Amino acid sequence: MTPSAKSSGSRTTAGRKAGSSVIDTRYYRDNLAAWDERAPAHARSEGYRVARFYEDPAYLSDVVRFDIPLLGDVAGLEGVHLQCHIGTDTVSLVRRGARMTGLDFSGESLAQARALSQETGADIEFVQSDVYDAVDVLGRERFDFVFTGIGALCWLPDVRRWAQVVHDLLRPGGFLFIREGHPMLWAMDESVDDELVAGYPYFEVAQPVTDEHDGSYLPVDTTFRADVSHSWNHGIGETVMALLDTGMALDLLVEHDSCPWEALPGKMVEGDDGEWRLVERPERLALTYTLRAHRID
Ligand SMILES: C[S@@+](CC[C@H](N)C(=O)[O-])C[C@H]1O[C@@H](n2cnc3c(N)ncnc32)[C@H](O)[C@@H]1O
Repeated sequence: MTPSAKSSGSRTTAGRKAGSSVIDTRYYRDNLAAWDERAPAHARSEGYRVARFYEDPAYLSDVVRFDIPLLGDVAGLEGVHLQCHIGTDTVSLVRRGARMTGLDFSGESLAQARALSQETGADIEFVQSDVYDAVDVLGRERFDFVFTGIGALCWLPDVRRWAQVVHDLLRPGGFLFIREGHPMLWAMDESVDDELVAGYPYFEVAQPVTDEHDGSYLPVDTTFRADVSHSWNHGIGETVMALLDTGMALDLLVEHDSCPWEALPGKMVEGDDGEWRLVERPERLALTYTLRAHRID
């Protein structure tokens, strides 16, 4: 999910084929400022339901609750949550019995994550780093599983570079679990009323989509000065092949007609499970996918 709401504001994109994996520092700076400013508001927002973690020691985030049937048992495993944001999913995985490390480049996100973990008694190491530097910071072949998603890959310009990071963090036999916004969802132009229009790139291209908006994808109690962010799409095939080419094997790939936030405002309805679906003919569009792969070399 982009940090901006997609219901208004402006989006621009060029569209040339990716050539370089180097993060343009302006893109990086804008995105970091956007996430740092939004993290405290997200922790206060009803969307992340942080208060529920304090009220109920068994409470799990909607995201992790949805994941359990495909994630399986993680009790006793050592995991890393890449792009952990304010830590709600990281704490949920600890509540499922995993030993977790959380990584994010946003210091303000990690401040919220640390507060949540300390005050709920979840023992988690949180590390501030660009995801592309995760192996240098955390170490090679250290984890039984990598957990990530729900608006993570879209901040990274090069999915192949990310896949290599995932592979290198895992012990042989270790697995990746990602449930992510579907690239067809990211390609939708949400400013078009009543219709689903693919207005943005489906495939990975070097030039990001630039959003200008002072809001969030969640209901928040403030507007933000950091109102520019940049994101990149990655096609399903590009993501799968990036992982296979590192020496990983695909275990499952499941597409869902729902996502855990109102991705296309005005076109969606929330179900009892906390998932949002298209009001009309939800079978038209995959909104998220779950992918699980394991390291074979
Ligand atoms: C939408 S959150 C995804 C996490 C989780 N699904 C959630 O909603 O809590 C995106 C996170 O990615 C982080 N992020 C963006 N670009 C990053 C990068 N290059 N390296 C590390 N973290 C990054 C942001 O700081 C933010 O916390």
